[in-house]
Amino acid sequence: MESSANILIVSELQQNTSQLKTIAESFSNEVTSVNYSDAIREMNRETRDIVIVSQSETEASVELVQSIRMVNPACLLLFVANASDFTLLRNIIRSGADEFFVFPDETSLFTSRFPTIVKNYEIKKNSMEEAAVTYGRNRGQILSFYSGKGGSGRTLIASSVAQTLKLESTAEVILIDLNTQYGGIENVFSIESNRSLADLMPVVEELNESHIRNVAETQQDSKLEILISPCDAEVAELIGEEFIAKLIRTCRRSFDYVLIDLPSHMNAQVVTALEESDKIFYILSPDTSAMKTLKQFETLSSRLGIHLANRMEIVLNEIAKENEVQQTDLKNVLRFPIAASIRRDIKGLQPYINKGMPVRTIQKERKLILFAKDIRKFSRDLLKQ
Ligand SMILES: Nc1ncnc2c1ncn2[C@@H]1O[C@H](COP(=O)(O)OP(=O)(O)OP(=O)(O)O)[C@@H](O)[C@H]1O
Ligand SMILES: [Mg+2]
Repeated sequence: MESSANILIVSELQQNTSQLKTIAESFSNEVTSVNYSDAIREMNRETRDIVIVSQSETEASVELVQSIRMVNPACLLLFVANASDFTLLRNIIRSGADEFFVFPDETSLFTSRFPTIVKNYEIKKNSMEEAAVTYGRNRGQILSFYSGKGGSGRTLIASSVAQTLKLESTAEVILIDLNTQYGGIENVFSIESNRSLADLMPVVEELNESHIRNVAETQQDSKLEILISPCDAEVAELIGEEFIAKLIRTCRRSFDYVLIDLPSHMNAQVVTALEESDKIFYILSPDTSAMKTLKQFETLSSRLGIHLANRMEIVLNEIAKENEVQQTDLKNVLRFPIAASIRRDIKGLQPYINKGMPVRTIQKERKLILFAKDIRKFSRDLLKQ
């Protein structure tokens, strides 16, 4: 017996119950198994360290995960699905599950990882008093940067925020360029590489963290991981939505922040990324034409069934005195909260853009350009959440 963790198994399927029991009992002698109807009572009866929920009907599963999380926000909550259903698994993670496995495909993965998961949980539990900000693994945030208008600053802002998050915290951060046709991020960091996220396509079925880290470029100053675009229209066409969803979900399991730079057109790749996102940052310049495009995007999203409420926030970019619309007026017309305001800083940015250098390279920069200061404020607000 390696652990004294109190483990609760919730399952309606006899086969899963006995499989999970065997795995759990080899680690702890405090294992209880119940069906869905008794789960909450059992959660209230004793403090559980680890709860493993095996999938039942979709709605019941999501609801149960939510309720368990509400009863015990600190427990480790694992979900075992019967099939790789993107929507279900996304909802399960949103409802508060820490990690999921698909049985029977991932039964052996689960068995082999379970000891580590339990150990990590116990280490985390024992070191609660440690003041350092530690990040809960396996539930990274997906932050997408979008705008219906080209040239609005998505690539520059996504890249600078990613770099700043990495420099100013201990979080694991990955930046993904989903401008699959033309790219863009490679220019911000002067990356010359033959590797791109398309190299992950052959391994999509078994995609894991080490595949991703092997293909990603590591930014030398911050150690930010970057998945470069294939920058090839023919390759871009072969990238399906299932691949995008799998890529994002795998990144979510291994990184604290997953930042996605999106193109301005709408296609299946973009829709998938938007659907998988926890937050969509819409980059808006304060002028009437950009506002009109935002309205069109709202209409299109509702037609495509992409829910923006509670997820989309506005990032105002190129704020200047001479703007056509002033920030105070904007607040009254926008239906979404403003996450950040970034000033227009043509002079400050120029040398960095010309040299292909990020606006930040060290943690304690002596002199920051205005743009980098605004990005720092935005990034610190994200870290606080
Ligand atoms: N706050 C700012 N101040 C000054 N210039 C800016 C600012 N934000 C963006 N720019 C300028 O706009 C240009 C385009 O930015 P960027 O490439 O990030 O936009 P994008 O939305 O990704 O465009 P694309 O449609 O090409 O993908 C930058 O090269 C930069 O010169
Ligand atoms: Mg771009």
